[in-house]
Amino acid sequence: MIHIAPSILAADFARLGEQVLEAEKGGAQRIHVDVMDGHFVPNLSMGPAVVQALRRVTRLPLEVHLMVAHPAQFVDSFFQAGADCLLLHQEVLPDPRPLLQQIHGRGKKVGMAVNPETAVETLEPYLKDIDLALCMTVHPGFGGQAFLPQSPERIRRLRALIDQKNPACELEVDGGIDEETAPQAVNAGANVLVIGTAVFAAPQGPRAAVQEFLRRVSGN
Ligand code: DX5
Ligand code: ZN
Repeated sequence: MIHIAPSILAADFARLGEQVLEAEKGGAQRIHVDVMDGHFVPNLSMGPAVVQALRRVTRLPLEVHLMVAHPAQFVDSFFQAGADCLLLHQEVLPDPRPLLQQIHGRGKKVGMAVNPETAVETLEPYLKDIDLALCMTVHPGFGGQAFLPQSPERIRRLRALIDQKNPACELEVDGGIDEETAPQAVNAGANVLVIGTAVFAAPQGPRAAVQEFLRRVSGN
């Protein structure tokens, strides 16, 4: 089954709770929270206070995508705020294992992400120890960018590794997912789609947009 993870980066922040509830009603199975520190990526976004506020309005799992140079320093505050899963970038963790163990030790989920210029093979040694592998399909930092053309091939390679090492590990894609690229990503082996702009900026609204994505990718 394919899961949709709406990215609130594209939501109307003045009506955030309402928008997330709309996405939930449309059938979204989790909510994706993009955290940016102005170092790992050239942009700032949101922190634990937003997770804490969302925790009160939705029952969906909250996954936090840490696009930050020093993820270890934020683990406690995001879990205290109510996060269910943290997504850590491979590029800033020369030895991720202690952090992966720490997170699993708290009974929470953890995923690892790779930027478009990082070989997906760098995740291979950790696939057994993670719940989710995130293949970035744009350069992280901003919503509304175009899906990079090398993405389907990267997703296929990551899918083959996951099937070999840990089939229970989810394969998530993030960036530029719309009605055209969603089926491409799913056909290449993704099973979780992060979608920002094409859900929250959709003229038909987030609820109908999520429903349409789910219809479009079901049966794949
Ligand atoms: C990019 C973020 C994405 C982003 C996706 O740095 O990690 O989660 O919000 O937005 P869209 O779907 O608009 O590309
Ligand atoms: Zn993200």
